Amino acid sequence: MTLVSLRTLLDAAQAGKYAVGAFNCNNMEVVQAIVAAAEEARSPVILQASQGAIKYAGLDYIVSMVKAAAAKATVPMALHLDHGTDFNTIMACIRAGFTSVMFDGSKYEKEENIARTKEIVKIAHAVGVSVEGEIGKIGGVEDDIAVDERDAMLTPVPDAIEFYEATGVDALAMSFGTAHGPYKLPPKLDLDRIAAVHQKTGAPLVMHGGSGVPEEDMRKGIELGIRKVNIDTELRQAFLAEVRRQLAERPDELDPRKIFAPAREVLKEHIKEKMRLFGCAGKA
Ligand code: G3H
Ligand code: 13P
Ligand code: ZN
Ligand code: NA
Repeated sequence: MTLVSLRTLLDAAQAGKYAVGAFNCNNMEVVQAIVAAAEEARSPVILQASQGAIKYAGLDYIVSMVKAAAAKATVPMALHLDHGTDFNTIMACIRAGFTSVMFDGSKYEKEENIARTKEIVKIAHAVGVSVEGEIGKIGGVEDDIAVDERDAMLTPVPDAIEFYEATGVDALAMSFGTAHGPYKLPPKLDLDRIAAVHQKTGAPLVMHGGSGVPEEDMRKGIELGIRKVNIDTELRQAFLAEVRRQLAERPDELDPRKIFAPAREVLKEHIKEKMRLFGCAGKA
């Protein structure tokens, strides 16, 4: 199966009122775990690579691995650039075969973010590639900001609506209480904010910082309009926990495959659990 656009996956998610998992990949074992999970769970899936992943693995390796997986896959898959901030990288991804890109213009003032996002949308849409935009800043747990400061960072509903309507993005990332990285305390999702934006615009909303969000909040968010959930930290934790366990159990092991194969298996099972939670399992 060839890779499909993010738009294709999110239109189906909107119709079926579920969210599609977007899992970050940096290497072969993680790509394989994500795709095997999607096949076993009969789930559509988004593989996403950050600029850091591209720097680590190489753009050609990321695209080749994901295309190799897609060629054999019987479930629909999209390849998405996560948090693209650099225009040239975004263009390189489109040219290399990504079917979706995120332009993260959250460091700019609203007007400039809108203008820059529109430019990306115009180019990407001309060649059938989807675009995710971000309005308001989704911070990291490690940013160590106080709770009232984080509240002040939540995206105002009118800004989200204006941004979505002005840019024509296919998916909208905004700040509603989640953060990147492992939470110190469970996050407090502003469900009313999610509902208000989704009801007024129909925008497929993206949850960044999906790792560590309690299951009940996740279900409610999806009921109210979350259609893409980004998961990275939990994958890192699941994979490395098993690597550590294996290394401790067999300190004299000389074959990395003996360590990575069980870690890949644990990761696959973790991803399948997420697919069931997001409601995308069984939808392909
Ligand atoms: O939101 C960021 C993602 O978790 C990717 O992280 O930039 O370290 O690859 P990274
Ligand atoms: P987590 O690392 O918190 O899962 O966030 C992932 C993310 O939002 C990638 O864009
Ligand atoms: Zn993110
Ligand atoms: Na998180």
